Amino acid sequence: MIFLTGVTGKIGGETVRQLLNKGASLRALVRDEAKAADLKAAGVELVVGDIANADTVRKGLAGAEKAFLLLPNGEQQQAHEKQFTDLAVAAGVKHLVKLSSMEAVADAKTPIPQAHWAAEEHIRASGLGWTMVKPNFFMQNLLASAATIKAQRKLFLPMGDGTTGMADARDIGAVCAEVLTGDGHAGQSYEITGPEVLTFYDVADRFSAVLGEKVEYVPLPMDTFREKMTGILVPWHLNAVCELFREIAEIGLDHTTDTFKELIGRDPIPLKQFITDHKAVFM
Ligand SMILES: NC(=O)c1ccc[n+]([C@@H]2O[C@H](COP(=O)([O-])OP(=O)(O)OC[C@H]3O[C@@H](n4cnc5c(N)ncnc54)[C@H](OP(=O)(O)O)[C@@H]3O)[C@@H](O)[C@H]2O)c1
Repeated sequence: MIFLTGVTGKIGGETVRQLLNKGASLRALVRDEAKAADLKAAGVELVVGDIANADTVRKGLAGAEKAFLLLPNGEQQQAHEKQFTDLAVAAGVKHLVKLSSMEAVADAKTPIPQAHWAAEEHIRASGLGWTMVKPNFFMQNLLASAATIKAQRKLFLPMGDGTTGMADARDIGAVCAEVLTGDGHAGQSYEITGPEVLTFYDVADRFSAVLGEKVEYVPLPMDTFREKMTGILVPWHLNAVCELFREIAEIGLDHTTDTFKELIGRDPIPLKQFITDHKAVFM
């Protein structure tokens, strides 16, 4: 049995759907049972509560052979991931799969990848079997720009000339599902990218090609972005996102990997396909 967190979100949602297709026996932590009604109907056992509550997490981990740990970014993410790891050890879990980030490295300079790296180190030292899934920027992040693409044919982001090898959440979920059910993944860190390194000017060009109308990328000054997002993200999160995006603008994520194809046996989804599949949202 596999115990999962984050199943009502982007990557966890894809992961759990693909695990159900494989016939896996699943239990999931959810905060709102109604949001996971479809999963319950599909046979996923639900444990209702918050990741901060150790008793709830203990209940979820009891009898689980494997666990999947995905948490949203926040000031407490690292502490919650460390607590989850310690509770997994105590529960006798054999293998923990953590959704981390490609930017999480030993000398990470900004808070989100630093928190991921610290949690990874804690897991590696825990004695559990482990696998780190470390994706690039998600294509699904672009859904947050759907309103301006739809209304103005403009993509406003503060990434300057920066690059990413953005990946589709469906592909990242496929990797997580494979790692949780296949063999040979213990002790591995998998960097998952899409098929191409793109600037956000390239991203706008892909939108223009699929939508049949010119879409323009407007690089925002970071202060303007910060102002726009104030009140939407709490201060710690807003600052961490600005630092992360500044790093993309200044350094970029300038390589792709073959890891997805090696694990799944097909090419990763290109951005044009992602836009085509979500065309109704952007038109
Ligand atoms: N976005 C990117 O480009 C990118 C790239 C690489 C790595 N990452 C990493 O991906 C992770 C985020 O993944 P995502 O975008 O799939 O997340 P997401 O869509 O924001 O979903 C977050 C999930 O966590 C659950 N959750 C939130 N707070 C919780 C709590 N206190 N207790 C229990 N569950 C809680 C949410 O449940 P509710 O439905 O109840 O809210 C939801 O299921 C982050 O760790 C981030 O660093 C992101």
